[in-house]
Amino acid sequence: MSTENLTYADQTTTDGGTKIWRGKLTFIMAAAGSAVGLGNLWKFPYIAGENGGGAFVLVYLACILLFGIPLMMAEIGIGRSTRHNAVDAFGTLAGKAGANPLWKGIGGLAVTTSYLILSFYIVVAGWCLYYFWITANGTFTATTTVDTAFTGGTFESLLADPVTLITFSVIFLLITFAIISSGIEKGIEKAINWLMPSLMLMLAVLIGYSAANGNFEAAVNFLFNADFSKLSSEAIFIAIGHSFFTLSLASASIITYGAYMPAKSSITKTAFAVAGIDTLVALTAGLAIFPLVFQFGLEPGAGPGLMFISLPLIFSDMPYGQLFGSVFFFMLFIAALTSAISLMEPTVAWLERRFSLRRRTATFLTTLSLWVVSLGTVFSLNIWNSPVFFGKTFFDALDYVTANVFMSIGAIATAVFCGYVLKRPQLDAMFSTDPQAIPVFRFFIRYVVPAFVAVLVIAAL
Ligand code: PHE
Repeated sequence: MSTENLTYADQTTTDGGTKIWRGKLTFIMAAAGSAVGLGNLWKFPYIAGENGGGAFVLVYLACILLFGIPLMMAEIGIGRSTRHNAVDAFGTLAGKAGANPLWKGIGGLAVTTSYLILSFYIVVAGWCLYYFWITANGTFTATTTVDTAFTGGTFESLLADPVTLITFSVIFLLITFAIISSGIEKGIEKAINWLMPSLMLMLAVLIGYSAANGNFEAAVNFLFNADFSKLSSEAIFIAIGHSFFTLSLASASIITYGAYMPAKSSITKTAFAVAGIDTLVALTAGLAIFPLVFQFGLEPGAGPGLMFISLPLIFSDMPYGQLFGSVFFFMLFIAALTSAISLMEPTVAWLERRFSLRRRTATFLTTLSLWVVSLGTVFSLNIWNSPVFFGKTFFDALDYVTANVFMSIGAIATAVFCGYVLKRPQLDAMFSTDPQAIPVFRFFIRYVVPAFVAVLVIAAL
């Protein structure tokens, strides 16, 4: 199903009725919205903090450059050249290459990955929504003394309370449902056009605030001074997994969005733009958070609670803390929303086609089942707080298995598929907009990506 002969005039619907976004920038904004999420704003600062800062950041940057960008190009190309959901995209390409149709299993694994990530993502997004609510309400700026015991207690009581956790994750899930069920243009494209500029604006305001009020120098030192003696093999493994997670790779999101990308946009430029924005936001988030952490003499390696325990403490003590604290948590919520949209779309797109469902029905079924699965994460934080898998709770196990195991397998399989299974004419059709990039792409996807991922995984083990 070649896309070369698509003209801008026929961009509303094409093969099989797949919609294509009208805006030239929509794909970049949507993919950047997918990439920029809790991974950048919540996870990156705390894993960088836990793993010693500079050296970890360097490994992470190398991962983005050496295999993040080539894989991103591969996934955009797979989606756009087939205009299918991830499962059928791999199936169609494998069929044309005369390869085993079971290759579509990689698409199935990717859709499963996005579905499972979303099941816990909505719970953490619910925390952000709850924190926006209580920060705006003045919980952390009230007259009572706010100390670590207080903010720590607030976070612990949230995690211990299934009803509140369910309430806020369901609100978040329903907002995602409303956007996805309204369609690719009227739902996703329209929402993205509003959400992404607001997100960038809030981030700019917050970094200014942090630079004005915090210890910027200490933060820059922490993030960019590489001390390799602090780098453990586990840190390397975490950096690899995180580079997939943060770029939304190996999880069907980019392939699915690629199917809606206009035929004329350059894949290379787009991939660099998306990875560039994502990296910039992660580093910016670090530069917005750590100056405050150091200014207040707090612990940079505080773990997942960094955002929910340390930051409220800081906001309670700073000028206009209630206002900026609320903006901060609202920004987290928006960033989570644009990622959640991209996490739900792969399952919905697949269900629609596989069972010939209406979009609304497919979205409804996805939402309802996700809610049930998300209860596993909710309860693993309180009443079911026992190890179920390799000493990890349900939530930790899901996070670990998706980001580290499923994504590594999916990424290597995608590289092998593009590098060795697809025929050269298929690559030419995939990269019809960037033929000059094919030799470099091929070299990276055949040799650098598999070797690099394998070496790093072995080093980590
Ligand atoms: N990239 C998102 C983040 O950093 C998470 C995500 C993973 C979104 C996979 C889509 C697919 O938070």
